[in-house]
Amino acid sequence: MAPTDDELIKFVSRLQDLRRRSGNPSLSQLSNLTAQVASRIPKSTLHEKLRADSVPDWEFVSAFVHACVIFSRSKNIALAAADTDRDIWRAEHRRMLQAVAAARPAQRKARAAHQELSSPGRYGRLDAIQRQLPADVMTFTGRQEELHLLDQILLGLGTAANTSTVAVVSGPAGVGKTALAVHWSRTAAPRFPDGQLYVDLRGYDPDRPTAPTEALAVMLRSLGLPGAQLGADTDERAAQFRSAISDRQVLLVLDNAKDTDHVRLLLPGSALCRTLVTSRDQLTGLVARSGAERVELKPFSLEQSVSLLDALMGRQNAGRPRSDAEPGTCLRWLAPCPESGRRTGGASRGHEFARARPRAVRRQPPA
Ligand SMILES: Nc1ncnc2c1ncn2[C@@H]1O[C@H](COP(=O)(O)OP(=O)(O)O)[C@@H](O)[C@H]1O
Ligand SMILES: [Mg+2]
Repeated sequence: MAPTDDELIKFVSRLQDLRRRSGNPSLSQLSNLTAQVASRIPKSTLHEKLRADSVPDWEFVSAFVHACVIFSRSKNIALAAADTDRDIWRAEHRRMLQAVAAARPAQRKARAAHQELSSPGRYGRLDAIQRQLPADVMTFTGRQEELHLLDQILLGLGTAANTSTVAVVSGPAGVGKTALAVHWSRTAAPRFPDGQLYVDLRGYDPDRPTAPTEALAVMLRSLGLPGAQLGADTDERAAQFRSAISDRQVLLVLDNAKDTDHVRLLLPGSALCRTLVTSRDQLTGLVARSGAERVELKPFSLEQSVSLLDALMGRQNAGRPRSDAEPGTCLRWLAPCPESGRRTGGASRGHEFARARPRAVRRQPPA
């Protein structure tokens, strides 16, 4: 066997391993799945590359890995993070190309590897991995049921039902939509190795809502698209965005959407991406048209507010009644919240209370 083939053969056997671990899709199944993330790779090409007859380029590797990921999800098979990590595949692909290119340059495969390595922008274009999620709420409390629902809807965990690519967290102002979305997304981030994008759409800010076209520009720039190449209108940018992340496992959080039209053009559309939208609106249009699943967020019960109060003020705080020892007292504190003239939902109430009262609480706990 020619020495230049060693690394190529090793690389191809890793592709075959991944295929086996993801549930052994047939070449026809793989070919169909690649069409969901990029342009379809014909069966004959799959056959040729998997026999190491020619050098696979990055588009092939990326589409192949993603097709295996989609197949494994449809079979409820959990792949290890290292199996699907784009950076690891990319590094291995580059190593293989370098080894093959370093061999006799006249050889057909060596020439192809060299060409792939030196084609302009191949290893750099639109490649910055974004981790844009805001900080988690330090004292995040409760919401187990809703977190579990999001696991089911977006990750397919613990359910045989098909997952959806879009989830909507809806509920009144201050109920804890952003906190839930950020907390869930941070926990789920390792499942989105190609990055997590976050955009505050400010749908309820009368002065500065983020227009879809502006949101698209921000996302495209952060993915590395040079400003000069930005599409002129919203549709063109939406198309650029969809193709920029079509072969990536990206989580997109669209916070504070005003209505369905606000987010419609921002949805990635790829089977690999997941989108989490928060809104005061129920986004019925999105549910109907894009198959989004909704998680309704209700205000905290008084008991949940007491837990939050515990977390916020610290269990060691001297002079404060403990909710476990004196639940009645805590509930009496939380029920009337006179500093708040507004009626806001759930978690805000605990926060307002904690902000407004801590000194009084410490000095003079009610009997
Ligand atoms: N589960 C939670 N645990 C702790 N704090 C929370 C929780 N949910 C919300 N909060 C806090 O309550 C306030 C309002 O929550 P936020 O997520 O901004 O509401 P919304 O996005 O629905 O308007 C914030 O200060 C947030 O940190
Ligand atoms: Mg919010």
